[in-house]
Order: sequence, then structure tokens, then C-alpha cells
Amino acid sequence: MPNPTDATDSTDTETNPEASTTDADEFTVTPYAVSGEVDYEKLLERFGATSLTDDQLDRFPDHPMIRRRTFYAGRDVNEYLEAAESDDPHAIVTGRGPSGPMHLGHVLSLYLARRFQRETGTTVYVPLSDDEKYLAKDQSFASIGGHTRDNLRDVLAVGFDPENTRIVIDTADADVIYPIAVRLANYLTPATVEAVYGQQDTVGLQFYPAVQATHLLLPQLVAGRQPTLVPIAVDQDPHVRVCRDVAAKESLPVEKPGALLGRFLPSLEGPGKMSSSGDAPSIELTDDPETVAATVNEHAYTGGRATLEEHREKGGDPSVDIPFQYLRFFFEEDDAALERIAQRYRAGELLSGDLKELAIDRITDFLAAHQRRRDALGELEDELEPFRLANAERCRALERAGVPSVSGRVR
Ligand code: TRP
Repeated sequence: MPNPTDATDSTDTETNPEASTTDADEFTVTPYAVSGEVDYEKLLERFGATSLTDDQLDRFPDHPMIRRRTFYAGRDVNEYLEAAESDDPHAIVTGRGPSGPMHLGHVLSLYLARRFQRETGTTVYVPLSDDEKYLAKDQSFASIGGHTRDNLRDVLAVGFDPENTRIVIDTADADVIYPIAVRLANYLTPATVEAVYGQQDTVGLQFYPAVQATHLLLPQLVAGRQPTLVPIAVDQDPHVRVCRDVAAKESLPVEKPGALLGRFLPSLEGPGKMSSSGDAPSIELTDDPETVAATVNEHAYTGGRATLEEHREKGGDPSVDIPFQYLRFFFEEDDAALERIAQRYRAGELLSGDLKELAIDRITDFLAAHQRRRDALGELEDELEPFRLANAERCRALERAGVPSVSGRVR
């Protein structure tokens, strides 16, 4: 059986056993645990990914999250860019683990994918891993199901084009996902899983990487070989590495998916913490303007000085100021405007309260538009229908994966 240390081809030492943590470093990044102060550059060494070059930055559709290197690294990005430039088929897979209400950090890659779709016609797949979250979080199936339905409304509110967007839900689309995952799981050893993810509590979670690998191959299994890019926060990169390994071993008719790796949206409470799970306060997509204002005013860590006098004299530090960082990540698209804000903050002209107010305004505008689209949705089943895999697409995926359905039809 394959050993995690002997990669099948020399370019991919993907399942490096030391990928998730090493004793020497003080931070851990795996899909199930992020702790310590993340060193984004060191992480690339650990994971074997590379920083985006200036040339690559220029070739992506223009977006502040690319320009400002929020998405800062990747693997096999050029193949995707070439296809996008020459109007060849190309796809993005960006999923959601429905373990709770979605907050701002969760929609970054969805909105990025939407922009790419509008610019270059990218096919977008959005898998929802309700199985993963049932296994990883202490929640009932009913509770995960409720979050799945709620999160689907947010995914739909992003405004993808149903012509070239597919939304899949692991338990609801198990007819397609399960047989393919089984085939991939045949090459996924417990040793690899442990090396890449650390020890897992259940065999369910040990199996799950085969499911996420299936997500990443789905666009190609449905529609044929094409460069596929997976924009994700760095903690999800192990899933991409595992997928690349097993896809090669199973000699499926697919290219290895590439990754576009992003930094974490900083937690409201300050740099070095991430905003995902836990009890950290965060801004949810359904928050009204008063709640946004209260959350930012109460919790946002600022780079301001202790007293007004000192602030006016010495100025603030935008690099650690969370309201500024939110503007930088997402909410102020204009580089010149952002730079002016930074300068005036450093000069002590703008106070922390001013930056908070600015951020609150911009976040509120963004959420108002998102919520308008969300509220305009009808019944979930009806809205979802045009985004579900068609029967012919299901059959094709199963055939390409070498697991044709027993009855000749699915569903
Ligand atoms: N595992 C991801 C999470 O916990 C969700 C997810 C499922 C995903 N499938 C994906 C993310 C495919 C990116 C691509 O958040």
C-alpha cells in the first residue's frame, strides 16, 4: 500500500508527513485545528505550495483579494489561468461546511468565485459537507440539516449563474458522491490521513477526505478534463493535497486540481486569531445594521493609541487595526482610497472611532445587498433546482469515475 512519504511522482511530495505540525513551530494548521500565530510563509514550505508571482496576480480577474494578496499562494495556478485566458473550460470548487450560520469570513471565496465566473465564465461547484460537520461537530443531524438549509440561502444569495454553477450536498447527492468517494478511498490509507490531518476521532472523519477529494474532481467528472482551482483558506489545503495524490493513483480521467490559498480573515478581537468557529464574536450575514455597529464597536481590536492626545500626536497602526483590515480584505475596493485612509490614520487625523464607523458603513452596505438577494429567494427547493446536478450529469460523472450506476440510472 502507498506510504505517505513515497509520492507517486517527483513533482508532488504532497502528503508530507510533517505537513500539519512540527515540533519546532508554534502553530498548527489542519482542517480541524488552527492554533498559534500562523506564519503564512512558513506554511507554504510545510505544505509545498508557492507564493503567487506578480505575473499570476496580473492574469487573474481583478479583485482586491487577489491584488492585495489575501489569496497569496497556490499550486498549479497557471493551468487555470491559461484556460481562463483562452476561453477553454475551467472550474472552481469552493465549498461550505454547514455547522452554523455563515459569517463574513465564509463568503470571501464565494464572492471571489462569483467575480471570476462573471469575468471568464468559470464553472463553479459549491459542495456542502453536511456529513463532515455532523462528524466533526457535536450536533444532531437535524441541527446540521437546519444549518445546511440556512447556508444554502446564503450561497444562493451570492448570485451565481445557474447555467454554470452546481451546488451539491453530500447526504442529498450521495448517489453520485458516495461511489466516487469509495473509489478514491481505496487509495487513502489511515497512515496518510493521520499524517496529513492528525489523529481523527472516528472512522467517519478518516473517510471524509475521500468525500472532499470527490468534490474537487466533480467538475471534471461531470464535464471532462479541465483545470480546476480551489480557492480556500490555507487550513483546507490538506484536502487538495490528498485529492491530488489519490486522483493520480486511481488514474482517473482528470487533471490534478490546483489551489488558490487565502489568509484567514482576522478575528474581530485582533490579529493572530482567526474568526472561524469557537465563541469569538463575528459578523453574521444576517446581522442588521444595529448589530453590526454594536459588534464592531464592542469587539473590534484597533490600532489606535491609549489617549486621544497620543493618537493625534503619534498616529494609529492600520496593520493591526481590525476595522482597517476588514476594509482592506474586502470592503474598500479602491486602492487609492484605502491608502488615503491608512495615511490619515497613521498621521493621527483619523481616530479609531472614525475607522470603525467607516467599516460599519461599508459592511452594512455589503450585507444589505446580500440580504436583499437572500430575502428575494422563494422556496429553497425551487431556488435550488436549477443548481442541482441533472440526471445526465450524474450518470456521466459516475461513468467517468469508473463506477457506473448499477441500475443504469440514478435517483
Ligand atoms: N471542508 C470545508 C470546511 O470545513 C468545506 C468544504 C467541503 C469545501 N467541500 C469543499 C471547501 C470543497 C472547499 C472545497 O469548511
